[in-house]
Amino acid sequence: MSGSPNALIEARHLSKFYSRGLYALKELNLSVLRGEFVFLTGASGAGKSTFLRLLLMQERQSEGELFVNGYNLATLSKTEVQEYRRGIGFVFQDFKLIPTRTVLENISFVPEVQGVPLAQQRRKAFQVLKWVGLQHRMNAYPGDLSGGEQQRVAIARALVNEPALLLADEPTGNLDPDLSLEVMNLFREINAAGTTVLVATHDRELIRLVGRRTITLDQGRVVEVG
Ligand SMILES: Nc1ncnc2c1ncn2[C@@H]1O[C@H](COP(=O)(O)OP(=O)(O)OP(=O)(O)O)[C@@H](O)[C@H]1O
Ligand SMILES: [Mg+2]
Repeated sequence: MSGSPNALIEARHLSKFYSRGLYALKELNLSVLRGEFVFLTGASGAGKSTFLRLLLMQERQSEGELFVNGYNLATLSKTEVQEYRRGIGFVFQDFKLIPTRTVLENISFVPEVQGVPLAQQRRKAFQVLKWVGLQHRMNAYPGDLSGGEQQRVAIARALVNEPALLLADEPTGNLDPDLSLEVMNLFREINAAGTTVLVATHDRELIRLVGRRTITLDQGRVVEVG
């Protein structure tokens, strides 16, 4: 049993609590189809980041079921966790680039750790850097880039293993409205190329501009599915 065949993410009665009776997520039921671009929104404390942490397996669910990309996250072995994580890209609000590495070296960091041969690492890194339109900055350091450029590098890094699913937690939280829209357009292109995208944001205006299906959480529950 691995969830519905056309759902990439499927949560059933999914709950997470940190202490008894205090639920960060309560009986969440939702699904994201393969190839979709979905926003996850809701007020501060609604549970958006908690849900993304469960998807990344940074934390384990307390109750209920979570199926992602054909895996049942409650029952994965250590090796399966690694395999599962390789299929997911993640973008943070604060970019999290390594300041002492060049743009290209930041992107090839993950393949490097995975033991991919150097020439292949660099080739893959350059390819994704081209996708985000920053190949001319490959030898720059993160500190020499604007916020929007840094976020594009971080997105390239998230794409280097060609993940089935791209997750982002408030990816435009540190960007002004113009750059935010630029980053969203990039997500749209990535989605059009076949990657399923789930973006958590409380920016209602941005969601309106991009116009994609939106799942709204309130106090750990789904209150609206657009
Ligand atoms: N490690 C933790 N221990 C205890 N409670 C936590 C922990 N992490 C999150 N929570 C609680 O879980 C609830 C959901 O938090 P979460 O960070 O998922 O919300 P969010 O929707 O991402 O909010 P924001 O928009 O501010 O980022 C909050 O009430 C929060 O206080
Ligand atoms: Mg959050």
